[in-house]
Amino acid sequence: MQDLKNHFLLDPKVTFLNFGSFGACPKPVFEAYQNWQLELEKEPVQYMLRKGPQQLEVSRKALADYVGCEASNLLFVPNPTYGLNIVIKNLNLQPGDEVLSTDLEYGACDRSWEFYCSLRGATFKRQHIELPVSSEEQIVEDVFKGLSKKTKVVFVSHITSSTGMILPAEKICRRAKQEGLLCIVDGAHVPGHIPLNITALGADVYTGACHKWMMAPKGCSFLYATPALQTQLDPLIVSWGYKSAKPSGSQFLDYHQHTGTRDYSAYLCVPDCLSFMREHNWEEVSKKCKALVLQSAPKFIELLQSPALTPLNTKHLGQMLSLQIRCNNPEALQTLLYDKYHIEIPVIPFENKVFIRFSINGFNTSSDLDKLYEALKQIKAEGQPLLQ
Ligand SMILES: Cc1ncc(COP(=O)(O)O)c(C=O)c1O
Repeated sequence: MQDLKNHFLLDPKVTFLNFGSFGACPKPVFEAYQNWQLELEKEPVQYMLRKGPQQLEVSRKALADYVGCEASNLLFVPNPTYGLNIVIKNLNLQPGDEVLSTDLEYGACDRSWEFYCSLRGATFKRQHIELPVSSEEQIVEDVFKGLSKKTKVVFVSHITSSTGMILPAEKICRRAKQEGLLCIVDGAHVPGHIPLNITALGADVYTGACHKWMMAPKGCSFLYATPALQTQLDPLIVSWGYKSAKPSGSQFLDYHQHTGTRDYSAYLCVPDCLSFMREHNWEEVSKKCKALVLQSAPKFIELLQSPALTPLNTKHLGQMLSLQIRCNNPEALQTLLYDKYHIEIPVIPFENKVFIRFSINGFNTSSDLDKLYEALKQIKAEGQPLLQ
């Protein structure tokens, strides 16, 4: 997969094993992005009022096709936390209500829920998921141990951040529906990473990032909501879309996508991302990346003396592997790996534990993981408390 590296702008001197945090944009997509920005500066009015909105529709429809939903149920937002905030703020949570979630969620989302729950006197319940997980069924069971008569909403990641594992979102949604609950899924890591069909998944709300595994420019994400919910969602920012002079026919779109002047060029590049993925047979590329993750997992498990967090198969793992390490200073370890070994990889403090998570994409090869292995081995051999 070495030749694919030429298609990215990434610094060739760096072994890049952190695609999961912010993705990386291939050259043709970045060029398309810059072309839109040039259009904007050359003729701001035409961009803002005509060409931009036209392409925005093309882009939104292409994205809806790709993630498996009606375009009318989907809109662009800058990032998943933004999308989630639109929904949480409008949920009309009452004192005593409970939101059932897990202790594997992303920090910004935890904070969003905690903020609005504490404002409304509701509880955000971070149900413990026993690690290592043994099966999808165990995860579903662990989540729903937290179910009570007060539960109104279920919120889970489809792929978790610090622990990098796939959660059985479809099974969790099905169970949530059986219990008569609203089901909200954080799919930040999903599009472009594992197959996604939002309609089949059955969530009421789904938010995802295009600027991670779909490789869009930063600031390109989406919010999906069912029609029944859309009408309950007041805008976070009230702007021209409220009482729109030119209603689009969708309050959902008008309220949340038209929030004032901004450069929305990143949104316009989804068709370019999809073309890039098609041209380079990205499904195959992704399969190879997943195979490399599974193949290299055992040697890191052995080196770090740390069990896999899930069974080693593609039901539970995609293009990331996270392992718990014994490390007294995560920031210093991450800095050392970058400064001395030129390896970009996150070392993540999470729930009184520390995880190291590598991501594999088309431009990575097994030699990147060999470099990581040797670096960790060396740091470990030095006997520092940084890595034991
Ligand atoms: C699981 C998960 N949810 C949500 C997000 C979105 O973060 P943000 O909204 O800050 O882009 C991330 C980003 O890494 C994530 O890993």
